[in-house]
Amino acid sequence: MRLALFEPDIPQNTGTMLRMAACLGVAVEIIEPAGFRLDDRRMRRAGMDYLEHVTLTSHDSWDDFIVTPTRRAARLVLLTRAAPTVYLDFAFRPNDIIMVGRESAGVPEAAHAAVDARLRVPMAAGLRSLNVALSAAMVLGEALRQTNGFPEAQP
Ligand SMILES: C[S@@+](CC[C@H](N)C(=O)[O-])C[C@H]1O[C@@H](n2cnc3c(N)ncnc32)[C@H](O)[C@@H]1O
Repeated sequence: MRLALFEPDIPQNTGTMLRMAACLGVAVEIIEPAGFRLDDRRMRRAGMDYLEHVTLTSHDSWDDFIVTPTRRAARLVLLTRAAPTVYLDFAFRPNDIIMVGRESAGVPEAAHAAVDARLRVPMAAGLRSLNVALSAAMVLGEALRQTNGFPEAQP
């Protein structure tokens, strides 16, 4: 299981997701450009010393990312509030890449069209969206539960 961050623009959210990924044994792909440098002080403060434990790959652009062997070998699953499918109704696979969008703008149409599945976390009517790190945590938790992928479940 991998987590992909599409052009993240809030360093504290990225630090939080990197810390979660370290704790859950999930590799992270960052798709640039990000709205901050990857050594940003605010990101490091949120991620703390957990950042040393993340398997992190940075890609210069979306176009670079989608041709990588990692992406070609796995399903790309986009989290978006506009998705037709609720994440609890989806059958995850151990090597899925779960991708979240940019805080300010989600992902562009080209990315919506290029993914293998789109999932949403159901929300109360009339509200805009969840925090990106919280939506990643909810869906990653379900994906790891389904695939027996939590670290302590592995031999
Ligand atoms: C703050 S939201 C982006 C809002 C942005 N203005 C838009 O129109 O998409 C940042 C990311 O969090 C994730 N997200 C937030 N709420 C979600 C939900 N209810 N279901 C699935 N993903 C969600 C998505 O990946 C989204 O791209």
